[in-house]
Amino acid sequence: MSGSKRCLIAGNWKMNGLLSEAEEFIAELRENPAPEHVELALMPPFTLLHPMNRPLADKGVTLGAQNVYYEEKGAFTGSICPRMLRDANCHYVILGHSERRSIIGESNAQIRSKLNAAWLHGLEPILCIGETLEQREKGITNHVLAEQLAILKGAPKDKPLTVAYEPVWAIGTGKTATPEMVVETHAFVHEELKRLGKDCRVLYGGSVNPGNAKELMACEGVEGALVGGASLKADSFMQIVEAAAETAG
Ligand code: 13P
Repeated sequence: MSGSKRCLIAGNWKMNGLLSEAEEFIAELRENPAPEHVELALMPPFTLLHPMNRPLADKGVTLGAQNVYYEEKGAFTGSICPRMLRDANCHYVILGHSERRSIIGESNAQIRSKLNAAWLHGLEPILCIGETLEQREKGITNHVLAEQLAILKGAPKDKPLTVAYEPVWAIGTGKTATPEMVVETHAFVHEELKRLGKDCRVLYGGSVNPGNAKELMACEGVEGALVGGASLKADSFMQIVEAAAETAG
């Protein structure tokens, strides 16, 4: 874990989680001590933001959302605006997740609009970037990442931002990047962010689990993790947090 910034372990529940499951998660979370050097955050689906807000806050866990729309309010059926997320006490919002890029067809231009809207209302975006297996095999990983980060050109310097490097081929597949790949790619991402005037925290994501968390979190340039599947159970989520705390301390 590099730098003096706090390490963040964020759980992205994706389209998972019923009220009963959230209650179970919270009950289990209460049994675990809060770590000192690690910030915890959870991004449940929209329907669980309000019910989870208070119990997560009591446990020192920051709340976030998985997406936001860029308009202020009005006739945008099915959409959620930044003020609604602030109203639900969200601090973070995930933007540009590869599932939204590939399944919903979200473009870099739309993601940039969402960044602006999030910043306007005091949210901290977690901007996801990552290459497909084909792109890595073609040797164009850095080019792809630079293109995804280029939406930060001209962005205000003082607005909060976290970036998550998530190789698309490692998401939900059980495959993880090797420590060498992680170190090399994170170094490139940090360099590119500095060039863009946004020297921010960079997380790793993609099949992070209790078994590999320590090795991944120990990589130079990794300042936390964005966890999918393994964040659905408090037990495995907290094991990842503990692994991170060991390397962050
Ligand atoms: P998995 O941890 O399930 O691979 O998901 C990673 C992810 O996409 C987090 O945003």
